[in-house]
Amino acid sequence: MNKLARHIGFDIDRNQIAIVSIDLEGKGANVLNAELIEELSAAVRKANNNREILGLIFISAKPRQFIAGASIDEILEIKDPIVGEEKARIGQDLMLAIEKLPIPTVAVIEGPCLGGGLEFALACTYRIASEQPEVVLALPEVKLGIIPGFGGTQRLPETVGLINALDLITSGRTINAKKALSMGLIDDIGPRDLLIRIAKQWIAKGVRKRKPYKRGKVAGLFENFGLTRKWIYHSARKKITALTQGHYPAPLRALDVIEKTYHIPDPYRYDLEAQKIGSLIASNISKSLIQIFLATEKIRKTQYSLPPQPIQKVAVLGAGVMGSGIAQLLATKDKWVRLRDVANAPLLQAVENIWSLFEKDRQRKRERPRFTEIRMNHISVTKDFSGFSNAQMVIEAIVEKLDVKKEVLRECASHMPKDAIIATNTSALSITEIASAIPNPERVIGMHFFNPVGKMPLIEIIQGELTSVQTVSTTMHLAIALGKTPIVVADRPGFLVNRILGAYLSEAIRMAEEGFAVQDIEKCAKDFGLPMGPFELMDEVGIDVAYHVGKYLADSFPYFPRPSLLLQSLMNAGRLGKKNKKGFYLHQGKKKTLDRKFVTKNLGFNVTRKDDNPETTKTITDRMILIMVNESYRCLQEHIVQTEQDVNIGMVFGTGFPPFRGGPIAFAKARGLTNIVERLKELAKQYGDHFKPTENLVQDAIA
Ligand code: NAI
Repeated sequence: MNKLARHIGFDIDRNQIAIVSIDLEGKGANVLNAELIEELSAAVRKANNNREILGLIFISAKPRQFIAGASIDEILEIKDPIVGEEKARIGQDLMLAIEKLPIPTVAVIEGPCLGGGLEFALACTYRIASEQPEVVLALPEVKLGIIPGFGGTQRLPETVGLINALDLITSGRTINAKKALSMGLIDDIGPRDLLIRIAKQWIAKGVRKRKPYKRGKVAGLFENFGLTRKWIYHSARKKITALTQGHYPAPLRALDVIEKTYHIPDPYRYDLEAQKIGSLIASNISKSLIQIFLATEKIRKTQYSLPPQPIQKVAVLGAGVMGSGIAQLLATKDKWVRLRDVANAPLLQAVENIWSLFEKDRQRKRERPRFTEIRMNHISVTKDFSGFSNAQMVIEAIVEKLDVKKEVLRECASHMPKDAIIATNTSALSITEIASAIPNPERVIGMHFFNPVGKMPLIEIIQGELTSVQTVSTTMHLAIALGKTPIVVADRPGFLVNRILGAYLSEAIRMAEEGFAVQDIEKCAKDFGLPMGPFELMDEVGIDVAYHVGKYLADSFPYFPRPSLLLQSLMNAGRLGKKNKKGFYLHQGKKKTLDRKFVTKNLGFNVTRKDDNPETTKTITDRMILIMVNESYRCLQEHIVQTEQDVNIGMVFGTGFPPFRGGPIAFAKARGLTNIVERLKELAKQYGDHFKPTENLVQDAIA
């Protein structure tokens, strides 16, 4: 490879095809930082100046890579909208220069092709990809609170049509090579070793005469006429508004740009894109989302003092809600799973559920029927411990009873190798206590998944008193390999997430008991950005579970208020929440309605507000949110987790604390710690000592 610049190679083969190889020095992936953009621009100028060159191929010199996006570090530094706008224009200029080259260009994609990377590829004449699973394509900018700024809002609709582009840009979702091929985003797929040869075949076709966009007739009709196009924008706007609840401006801004520019020959269309990204890039929302993203990346790249052991064979105990989800997740990641339950029915049900989840995945990815079979073949089921002697690890997800867990895991350990890791998915029980029943307790660890396992990104890794560093390292590594974000938490009741959530839920009930209206409480939570109100959430996790966790926390921590007796009476009335279709709400399929009659008559709660005093809204919101902030600081004080970012990540990924607020600690800092402390003191005077600000919060506010 002939080096043209620090990160770029430039070679011309005997057929006069130039190959630009990209290798961002010192990094595992290529990202478009200012320096790389400058160097790529130089490469394009060089190709433009050499009239002998017949075609240009862009490829990553790093194996199984392309360009993973623009530099997040540089984006984070931008505090001024004008600077954001300017940076976007520099990227846009590079893409325009590629597009204007008189020769055909090909992007050879062998790995992640995301954000600025995909915008770069879109500027090329052709895009081809390897058939490897590492190839993923997306414009995920909205997930970081911004929009594509290097021409993506213009070139993606031109390439894949309006409906596809709106979907990809406003959701930020990722697609694989097959899906990309089917929508015309890429032109070809081939084996890695043949990609350069295939790229040259595409170059031989010359400069593209027509747009590659493959759309069905119906989509074509819809997109071509003004009136139907209006309808497309209208329904996209409606969908986005329902999803974002007005908290995330980026998807709507992207839609605005596309609506104002699609099909309109406007020389200023790129300017509009740059202006819109400029204002978003400097916003607090984008900064919070990026901080969460960077913290997640940092966890993924954790260096362990002891190298993790590879785990391939895992036994799972319990084929219920959690066990079947865990088994499915493991099989998705090519682990071999032995799933045990004591009864036939849950095993059959689990197999059925797992099969249908794999089928959905297959259809989404447009894979062949064999895909589901191959995945299913990774799972075998049993009612005894046969096959456990081969497993390197067991993950237990049986009933939440200490004695039962201890007994079952002790027996399980006797069927497994002495060094096999024994992980429990307990929601709250002490790992140290569970480990006391097991020989070699240093291999016992908590691995707390969240429900539904396939969707929730967090795993709490709980270190018991005797858990070894090796066990932590291997379990963390496995959690990351499963695509999750793990945080290490101390072995204290409720760990991190359920403890903070417990404080919040019990405050919500207390407010309802004091006479605040249930619907107001629900609305305040949602207006703050939480995915659902506290009463909906209690129905979701189960009234019995909420009660037991609340009781356990109150038994463990003297400052924790006792759970309301109302929860117990709800339980006694057989209202367990979503799982048996009635709790605070009545559940019918996906629909739920507050059971006003029951809530008013039996629980004595108000349902709707009688006054419309804005102070009420403020009080409700502060009581719910600041109790979480205070509890978060208490967890830091007690070293439940090591860093503030762990608290933020835990709450955002474990409970849906609004990502645009960056987590409870980031939220508190943005609002001002002095303000938080003062408000907590006021609330403590009015509503009880449990609002008293913790010592470390007070200290941080002074500092
Ligand atoms: P579940 O009731 O749906 O499933 C438990 C399964 O374990 C049942 O199928 C039962 O037959 C089986 N089982 C009982 N004894 C067994 C034994 N000796 N060997 C093998 N299987 C046995 O319960 P779920 O909801 O899946 O919870 C399981 C564990 O996960 C509990 O510790 C719970 O606290 C924890 N957890 C639950 C969450 C949830 O939202 N459901 C979230 C996070 C953790």
